[in-house]
Amino acid sequence: MVYQISKLQFSYDSGFTLFVDEFLMQNSIVGITGPSGSGKTTFLLNLAFLYTGKWESFKFMGKEIDVDDLSSLRKRVTYVPQHPILFRRTVFENIAYPLKVRRFSHEQIRKKVYSIAENFRIQDLLNKKAWQISGGQAKRVCLARGFVFEPDVVLLDEPTSDLDEDSGKLIEQFILDVSSRTSIVVVSHDKQQLCRLCSNILYMEKGRLLHTL
Ligand SMILES: Nc1ncnc2c1ncn2[C@@H]1O[C@H](COP(=O)(O)OP(=O)(O)O)[C@@H](O)[C@H]1O
Ligand SMILES: [Mg+2]
Repeated sequence: MVYQISKLQFSYDSGFTLFVDEFLMQNSIVGITGPSGSGKTTFLLNLAFLYTGKWESFKFMGKEIDVDDLSSLRKRVTYVPQHPILFRRTVFENIAYPLKVRRFSHEQIRKKVYSIAENFRIQDLLNKKAWQISGGQAKRVCLARGFVFEPDVVLLDEPTSDLDEDSGKLIEQFILDVSSRTSIVVVSHDKQQLCRLCSNILYMEKGRLLHTL
């Protein structure tokens, strides 16, 4: 089991509360859909260990998580936000960043960055400054940066929402290809997309994970 969560609760000061009675995830692609404001992003941020609520049980990779050691858990999970956020550096440096902090060698970094850039068809952008590329290109750069260090889990928040059809298909194919070694949660409003990608689709409403479609 990748995640095994029972009675997770997280509240903002605004009054919104996320409550997940049970979430079980094996190595696979899980889809989450539901109206805007229902708590999908909030749930992903909890799964990424970036937000911490309360729970009865929260196991990651078979082990109850240790709230005093969230930083090591964060290294194994990537959250890719809906709206791309890039550093004011080149595209290459943006994608290389997670590898640098994990102390990969220069040679390994070069190889991995070029290889993933090819997958996302952004190899021609590597020397460009992050602020000189389009929104759709920035989205693909963020996705490449999310996958480049081969994390255990990738959490994708509306990964194809701002992309043209061809780029969307490219991302879908990449998700399918990588899913044998990486567990993926995809939040999407496109139910047909979720049906193409996921073995399990969940529905979120008013902060609750309701049912499988
Ligand atoms: N940082 C925040 N502080 C307070 N309220 C927030 C914050 N982020 C989101 N919310 C509220 O929590 C609810 C769920 O938001 P979100 O998880 O972004 O929903 P979704 O991703 O399904 O659109 C919304 O009502 C939103 O206004
Ligand atoms: Mg959202």
